Amino acid sequence: MAAEKVLVLNATGKVGRNVCRALREAGFDVAGTTRSPKSPLTSHGVKPVVCNYTIRADLDRAFKETGAKKVFVITDYFRAAKSNADEEFRQGRDAIDAAKAAGVDHLIFMSVADAECFDKHTKHMKAKVELEKYLRQSGVPFSILRPCAFFENLDDAANWNPLKKGVVKFLTLQDCKYCATYDIGRAAAIQFKNREEWLGKSLDVIGWQGDLSQVAAAFSKVSGVPVKARLAMPIFLRRLLLNDLHHMFLYYEVQNGPRGTPEAFRKILPDALSAEDWFRFHNRFADGTPITTQAQPG
Ligand SMILES: NC(=O)c1ccc[n+]([C@@H]2O[C@H](COP(=O)([O-])OP(=O)(O)OC[C@H]3O[C@@H](n4cnc5c(N)ncnc54)[C@H](OP(=O)(O)O)[C@@H]3O)[C@@H](O)[C@H]2O)c1
Repeated sequence: MAAEKVLVLNATGKVGRNVCRALREAGFDVAGTTRSPKSPLTSHGVKPVVCNYTIRADLDRAFKETGAKKVFVITDYFRAAKSNADEEFRQGRDAIDAAKAAGVDHLIFMSVADAECFDKHTKHMKAKVELEKYLRQSGVPFSILRPCAFFENLDDAANWNPLKKGVVKFLTLQDCKYCATYDIGRAAAIQFKNREEWLGKSLDVIGWQGDLSQVAAAFSKVSGVPVKARLAMPIFLRRLLLNDLHHMFLYYEVQNGPRGTPEAFRKILPDALSAEDWFRFHNRFADGTPITTQAQPG
């Protein structure tokens, strides 16, 4: 039997590329959108579809070109929507409408864990909440994945946080819930494969919980060198320069959010990646050198 086709929007991003990988490993025939005709997707076994997901006509063409009846929808608040929640909502709504017009039989939307619980200053959550509502009323068969903070934030050169030997930096030192973007993809594979069970439902993607000193201990164990845990910037600068994210972290730090737990997620994905697993999985510093030369499991 031919593998089922899945279209992944924004396939080249931190989420998209690992979602494509996990879906491919789960046996799907994966196509991914990118604006770039020179994308490296092909070398990863993903069919590239040149498409600017912020343009409705491009989305319609992507569905037509691939014939996919399953789609993984990610919206990008900070870049594609230029930090504008109304614009992110419009882009997400267009993706849902395009999926409906294409007769998609299962749309998985990536939202955020506890999106509705953040205060009014946490603007990058607003469209996620509205898009969940829009999707529920759209008539498109759907499931929702609600991830917490990505481990990938620990190696994010584009946001001035490249991963270097001997130090790990984040915007909080306190207890935080993390997930690997690869596990978002593995959770999506479970939902696509068990459609009836997951239609209309949402799942918090939370792989591990710990403070930054525990993240550093995991990094140290994998890299074989001592690792310091540092704030990426002092809290007063976080408040001044990244007020939106500052308020998100206040929800983590003061209210112990999000409410979901790694234990609950592990009932669905028993081998969800811990911090140590993620450093082994990621296995590179920002300059491309490997963290460990020891053989990786799997
Ligand atoms: N970081 C976290 O901890 C976290 C946690 C939960 C949820 N999220 C959510 O994750 C989303 C971001 O996903 P990501 O980390 O995968 O993003 P990313 O790595 O920045 O990737 C962005 C994607 O959007 C496309 N893109 C960028 N600028 C664009 C533009 N101007 N027009 C059209 N397409 C554009 C890029 O594709 P091409 O350049 O190939 O076209 C790329 O595939 C955000 O909405 C955020 O709220 C993040």
